[in-house]
Amino acid sequence: MSGETIDIAMIGLGTVGGGVVRMLARHGDEYTRRLGRPLRLRRVLVRNANRHRQSVNETFKDAGAQTIISADTITDDVDTFFSDASTSIMIEVAGGVDPAGDYVRRTLESGNHVVTANKSLLAARGIELFDTAARHNASLAFEASCAGGIPIVTSLLFGLAANRVSGLYGILNGTCNYILTQMTQHGTTYADALTQAQQLGFAEADPSLDVTGQDAAQKLAILAALAFGARTHERDVTVLGIDTLDLADIKFGAELGYDVKLLGIAERSETNGRMSLGVQPCFVHRDEPIAQIYGSFNAVSVYGDAVGHVMQMGRGAGQMPTASAVVSDLINIAAGWYPRAFAKVASSIASGGMPDVIHADELTARFYLRFNMRDEPGVMAKVATILGTADISISAALQHEQIVDGFVPVVVVTHNAKQGRLREALSRIEALDTIYASPVSIRIVDLPGG
Ligand code: NDP
Ligand code: HSE
Repeated sequence: MSGETIDIAMIGLGTVGGGVVRMLARHGDEYTRRLGRPLRLRRVLVRNANRHRQSVNETFKDAGAQTIISADTITDDVDTFFSDASTSIMIEVAGGVDPAGDYVRRTLESGNHVVTANKSLLAARGIELFDTAARHNASLAFEASCAGGIPIVTSLLFGLAANRVSGLYGILNGTCNYILTQMTQHGTTYADALTQAQQLGFAEADPSLDVTGQDAAQKLAILAALAFGARTHERDVTVLGIDTLDLADIKFGAELGYDVKLLGIAERSETNGRMSLGVQPCFVHRDEPIAQIYGSFNAVSVYGDAVGHVMQMGRGAGQMPTASAVVSDLINIAAGWYPRAFAKVASSIASGGMPDVIHADELTARFYLRFNMRDEPGVMAKVATILGTADISISAALQHEQIVDGFVPVVVVTHNAKQGRLREALSRIEALDTIYASPVSIRIVDLPGG
């Protein structure tokens, strides 16, 4: 920090980096008033500086950002970027684990603070980077990494700090929620809805990270670490994406009163402290508040022992909502309170225990099942017998007269069942010669108090 200005460096000038420039241009005067000194963007590192230098005036002409960024601010030379000793806060909005992780570590080691939106990096190297920050009296702020503009990180770290959290249920991927909404409400095909999400700037550079559930799993690993004070890692999360979903099941679920959501679920047993961590398409009763979150919106429901249920919803992706979180972190660091608070938080996260995570087979839940059965006597009885032998009880069944080549879809809803027992039963059912194609199973989520 120079005496006059608070100097910032930034890696990345894409969707989110562009939003940061726009926010600094729009509200710079207000930030100066609050902080007592202006924030100044000294240097921006990108992969291809020439391309950005040629287009920077045109790109930001709507934002009136000529005083914030110019061709001279932009470089693709790493040594030039790191040679400027005047910057005290670095914003990392490049993405990916390498080389972003090394740039973040290098910045923290020099005692400078980092703001990042990069959940892949935190899920892979978060504990190491928290430790590095703590050792060098620097802070690492990451509000934008989980649920975009929703201040869920700040809520878990500070606002809900008094509570023992038993569960966290989140719509954590805007791209998937957008795709599911388009498919459910407008009958859009999966492929068209994904293309729209990419055009709107929600999707990751590699959208398979979104649709396979990996992006949500990275966010869930970070949020579970904050909620439960444990060193949860992406590999602790059982993941199933929306790329496996069939429109037929979305329609059958709707008949039964359920909406499908890709939910990240982190639960901790009150009795033995064991956790379950999973991301998967789930049916949620349409009366539940979280079922009514549509489009690119995200939502996170947290259950704390004192506060009860708290749900936050907002835009989980996109340029300005994400920039809102990044610039808020920036202001909180520049104001001085975040580094002091972080010093305590970092050591508690780094010293958190290893999570005791149950295997997905041990999970108990209700399930929606769909079988394509030969339409003849006794088939349903055989299926019910296999389920019954596995201690799985049926609570509802649904069949329409829509026979195709002698097979009819039959939907069954179970009472609570162990996922492992169900998996074994389904493979026995699939082996019956009266069953066509693999049975479908989708978890039904019964939210606490619902
Ligand atoms: P973009 O792909 O739009 O932009 C990435 C930027 O980083 C580009 O300017 C690129 O340079 C630069 N960059 C990439 N790799 C390097 C590198 N090795 N060295 C220097 N510069 C590099 O990404 P987004 O802005 O969408 O995302 C940035 C981060 O924010 C990611 O971690 C993402 O997960 C996270 N995020 C994004 C959200 C969104 O809605 N988009 C929401 C929440 C988080 P160049 O332009 O030259 O290629
Ligand atoms: N691709 C992510 C999403 C961006 O769709 O939610 C926010 O992390």
